[in-house]
Amino acid sequence: MARVHGADPLKKIALVGFMGAGKTTAAQAVGFPVVDSDELVEQAAGKPIPEIFRDDGETAFRAHEEEAIVLALGGGAVTSAKVREALADTLTVWLDVDVDTCWERVRGSDRPLAQNEAEFRRLYEERRALYADVADVVAHDVHDVVLAAAGVHVERGALAKLGSLVPGDGPVALVSDATVAGIHGMDAQLALGSRLAETHELPSGEEAKTLLTIDRLWQELRLDRRGTIVALGGGCTTDAAGYAAAAYLRGIAWVPVATSLVAQVDAAIGGKTGIDLPQGKNLVGAFHWPATTVIDPALLETLPDAQRRDGMSEVVKTGLLAGEPLWELPDDELVRRCAAFKAAVCLRDPLDQGERKMLNLGHTFAHALEAAAGYEGVTHGRAVALGLLAALRLSGRDIGQVEEILRPTPVKVDRERAWEALLRDKKGALRLVLLGDDGPQWDVDVPAADVRRELDRLIA
Ligand SMILES: NC(=O)c1ccc[n+]([C@@H]2O[C@H](COP(=O)([O-])OP(=O)(O)OC[C@H]3O[C@@H](n4cnc5c(N)ncnc54)[C@H](O)[C@@H]3O)[C@@H](O)[C@H]2O)c1
Repeated sequence: MARVHGADPLKKIALVGFMGAGKTTAAQAVGFPVVDSDELVEQAAGKPIPEIFRDDGETAFRAHEEEAIVLALGGGAVTSAKVREALADTLTVWLDVDVDTCWERVRGSDRPLAQNEAEFRRLYEERRALYADVADVVAHDVHDVVLAAAGVHVERGALAKLGSLVPGDGPVALVSDATVAGIHGMDAQLALGSRLAETHELPSGEEAKTLLTIDRLWQELRLDRRGTIVALGGGCTTDAAGYAAAAYLRGIAWVPVATSLVAQVDAAIGGKTGIDLPQGKNLVGAFHWPATTVIDPALLETLPDAQRRDGMSEVVKTGLLAGEPLWELPDDELVRRCAAFKAAVCLRDPLDQGERKMLNLGHTFAHALEAAAGYEGVTHGRAVALGLLAALRLSGRDIGQVEEILRPTPVKVDRERAWEALLRDKKGALRLVLLGDDGPQWDVDVPAADVRRELDRLIA
């Protein structure tokens, strides 16, 4: 686990694992161009793999395989020392799936090494040591692979391992707000050990996301370009400190350590950093992918209920987009699955030019309600919950689940002010995210009268 994902989300990863582990499916979920070593071998040999084995033997197959530069490696590629050497410079993810599942998936296929169950099981055991040897990260399913590719580390107890999870060996500046610093700051400092060079405090909440705060932080920072900013906190801390890292010395590495539910399932993932202007939220920022993202679900145990409720709106949004009731899962799994969903979308569209827009489901309405309330008295979570109701109604969907889990109640704001804020936010074109029969759709033109009607229903 010495190497972790770098600041570039499009870095190549190598996926290793036994036959039937699901490597191709996982690679497709990450959205990187998939280069399958088996296909390269078949192209080089000019015939299908069963025929290579039959005509030329396994040694010839492995010789072809060594030539291949691969993303998804064939199950046996790591038996070659040359391939193992090549993997030394790549993030290597081992998709470790139990032998029974692998056998169920490949039995009856024409794969030459899957013809005899006893031999298959023997090979499986033999290969495990080799996979363990080359792996930087061990994954057990497609969601783990996505998280590894995005450099997101989700583990109960991860905070105590922070020293080894922050890549590199340069100095670290720890940034947090007073509340989080008071509860988890000491554990973070202990875990960072001798790498901790400086600590900084930001104001709590949106006040962290102001130019004044960032200017003060920039002036206090003493890190050189080998340094890393570690942002320990909720979404306001990670947005602000991430933006500080994006511009400081023209960009240094940063590691969000997400402590709120909003940050663990949303804000700390995907590389969007930013601050607010008096004219509106998140108007200045940068895409700056973290060197690694650390998520320790145990930290949620100290989160106040109100903050947890805010986070649940994003969880429900994620579940609706994923088409699965992720909100029903126990905390650790809920966080892992939501984080993986967001990570996959952001890996496929890191610069928000296409499908990443789906993450705004319900948010057009939410922003309008928050703006109409002057950003006071209506929490973001409540506004998102109401926004989800509107988005679902416009999609012709049942709103029962949102009502039952989030129980949103209409807000008291001025209707005209909310409508004007919505039009300003959308710059005149009413293109929304809706949930279609085949999943989320974005940039859907919705008639103004329908949007206005649904907005009005959210206002008391
Ligand atoms: N960059 C993105 O992609 C993205 C996505 C979603 C939201 N956001 C941003 O995230 C921000 C909201 O994030 P938030 O709700 O986490 O706000 P926050 O950072 O203000 O945290 C909420 C409150 O919870 C406290 N807190 C956090 N973790 C705690 C813990 N473990 N125990 C006790 N208290 C804890 C904080 O001190 C704070 O008072 C907004 O500014 C929003 O714009 C960004």
